This record gives sequence, structure tokens and C-alpha cells, in this order.
Amino acid sequence: MPKVKKASKSVIKLVKGMKDILPNEQVYWELIRNKVSAAARDYGFQYIDTPVVEATALFKRAVGEETDAVSKEMYSFVDQGGEKLSLRPENTAGVVRAYIEHGMLNLPQPVKLFYFAPQFRHDKPQAGRYRQFWQFGFEVLGENDPIVDAQMISLSYFILQELGLNVEVQVNSIGDDNCVKKCQDLAKDAPQTVDHLCDECNKHFTSVLEYLDELDVKYNLNSKIVRGLDYYTRTAWEIVETSEEGKLNALGGGGRYDDLVYLMGGRQTPAIGFACGVERIINKMKDVKAPLPENWRPDVYVATLGPEARKKALHLLLELRKENVSVSEDLAKTGLKGQLESADKKGARFALILGQKEIVDGTVLIRDMENGVQEVVDIKKAVKEVQKRLEHHLIAKVLKKSK
Ligand code: HAM
Repeated sequence: MPKVKKASKSVIKLVKGMKDILPNEQVYWELIRNKVSAAARDYGFQYIDTPVVEATALFKRAVGEETDAVSKEMYSFVDQGGEKLSLRPENTAGVVRAYIEHGMLNLPQPVKLFYFAPQFRHDKPQAGRYRQFWQFGFEVLGENDPIVDAQMISLSYFILQELGLNVEVQVNSIGDDNCVKKCQDLAKDAPQTVDHLCDECNKHFTSVLEYLDELDVKYNLNSKIVRGLDYYTRTAWEIVETSEEGKLNALGGGGRYDDLVYLMGGRQTPAIGFACGVERIINKMKDVKAPLPENWRPDVYVATLGPEARKKALHLLLELRKENVSVSEDLAKTGLKGQLESADKKGARFALILGQKEIVDGTVLIRDMENGVQEVVDIKKAVKEVQKRLEHHLIAKVLKKSK
């Protein structure tokens, strides 16, 4: 071991409002990513990545200069070339920019995109509120039909339900340019926005609710849902969970933004989308002890005794991996006892043990980690023998389950 020096300098800490995502939390992240990707595949969404840094003007125009997200919370700077740039506070503006810039207006519509990406808001840090936080979001551009509104609402709802959360939807219509001025003024005092919609918006919203009734979505009409970003028109919703004190906590939110593509320089294109906060979802999953997938277990653990065996094990590990057998090892450990304990802890199904004698004989020991039974096999047949046993193991497991 090299000589360890004492620390000579002060330790530089994590920036306020930021969060490390440590290995023990990754099980949640992987689960959420998988659920989001599976839902995206089933509903025909394609993945998009846009840059973290965009022109400050993009957010000013798309999200709105007066909004908190832009006027108070945006990380903005002038770069070495004198450009005014910002870290994105949300992802819809970037997606719309990319949609226009890459001519997606000319593709068959609607264009359906999703993302899983970090966002930045210099908000006051507190429980469930970070300065860098992750969102997954879904956007449908080029479709006006209210059935899509209901589908998007149900998509946001079911992803969170499938993650083990008991959530509900708060839905509203904030109208459009034909009714919105009047109803937004009214919304501040009178909670009856939907009563003041123009005929077209009213018809659209009524259809959204009819379709929602067809789906098994728990929803409430809530005229207080006006959303904090300027681009919304018509349908707006939040996915909330009720805290113990009865407070509504938003895990996600979205709405129509039928004028945004036009406002950003494209042609008039109806659109709708939502985004959910990943850290907030994970906090809630921990609170309710949401079920998590079983930890990964290696099929085989390779244990060695002696320098020749370690060399041989390097090849054996490569061969096993090439055959898609999942492996684990601690080749830097020299004691066999410690290695077998590690195999046990990791939940390996079998161990392949290579010692001095096995190297001389050209063999290897296969140990069934469940019952401790060991057999000697020809090292050249080791991979095949392992595969055979794994197959038996799998069949036995299925049979046991079906009984
Ligand atoms: P948003 O409501 O601003 O909408 O954010 C969506 C979700 O991101 C929130 O419900 C919350 O879970 C999470 N979130 C927001 N701020 C923070 C924070 N400081 N820390 C942790 N989580 C946070 C949007 O961003 C829109 N772009 C959604 C959208 C997509 N609308 C149409 N398409």
C-alpha cells in the first residue's frame, strides 16, 4: 500500500442546492428511467437531448420574462465570446427550438418526443426543491385533438402509479387568446375559470374530460391550476400527492402550448406536454416504501487461489461474459474464504473455484452456492457446464413458481 498522506487543504463541498446521486440511490433512477423508456416506446415517443446551455433570449421569449423561473431563478451568464446564455430552467423551450430548427414541422405530424434531463433553477433550496433537478418529460407537437390531452394526462398519471405512488390529477383549462385575457383576470379572484371559456375552448375541454372519464384516472377539476410558465393555453394539469398535512405537492405538471411554436418563429402548431420532477418522485417513493426490483445477482462468481489461478481466471471471466453469463469476482483478494463470503453476499448462484491443484489438472470446481455441493469439471467445458446448470436452475425456479 502506498504511504497515505494527511489532508493538507480544506475540503471543497457540494454547491448549495445541488445533489450527488450516490450508488445506493441508483436503483430508483434505473427503475424510473426504465418505466419512462417503456412508456415512451409503447406510446411512440422518440428520445431527444437538447443542450443544457441555450440563449437567454430563448427562455425569455418562450417561458416569459416575468415568470419566476426566468426573472428570479435563471442561471444566466455572458460567455467569453460575449453571448448571453442561460442554463435551462425547463426543457420545453429547447425542444420547441429544436423542432423548428431541424425542420420537424415538415415531418408527419404529430412529432412525439421525450427527454430525461437535468434542469436548473436558483430557487430557495428546501425539501423536494433543488437548484439542479432532473425532469422526464413528454411533448407532442402538431396535434390539437382533445383525445391527446387525455392521453398525455393519463400517461403522466400511470407512470407515477406504476412507480407505486398514490397520486391524483388536478386539471383545468386556462383558455386561449380568445377568452384568456378575461378568464385569467377572473381566475385571480373567482375560482371558476372554466365557466368563462370561449365556445371553442369549452368544447375542447369538455371532450378532454369525457375522454378522461373513459380512462381510470383519478382527477379533480381545479381552477387554481394556472401553471407558472407563460406558454400555456387551454388544458393545464398537475400530478399531485397529498402530504400528511393535506398539502398538495406537485410531482409533475404540463399543459397545452398551442401558440409557442408560432411565438418562437415557426408556423402555428398546436402542442401539449408535461414534465415530472425525478427527485420529488424518489423522495415520495422512499416515504411510501414503494416496491423496488430485486437487486442484481451474478450468475457466477470466480474465486481463485494462487498467482497462476488468478491469470487463468482473467480468461475465464472474459469467456463467461462473452457468453452473456453475468459474473463477479474480487481477484485482488487472495484468501478463498473471503472470496466465497463475497460470492454469498452478492447472491451468486454458482462459484467457479480455481486453485493450484485445478491448474495442474486442467479442471475447475463448480460450487452450487445454495447447497454447497461441489463438482470437478474440465476447465475447457467450464462455460458450457455453467450454462447447463443455470438452465436447470431457471427451470426449477419456474416449476416452483407454477406450483
Ligand atoms: P414545471 O411545473 O415548472 O413544468 O416543472 C415540472 C416538475 O418539475 C414539477 O412538478 C416538479 O416536480 C419538478 N420541479 C420543478 N422545480 C423543481 C425544483 N426546483 N426542484 C425539484 N423539482 C422541481 C415544466 O417545467 C414544464 N416544462 C412542463 C411541460 C412540459 N409543460 C409542457 N411540456
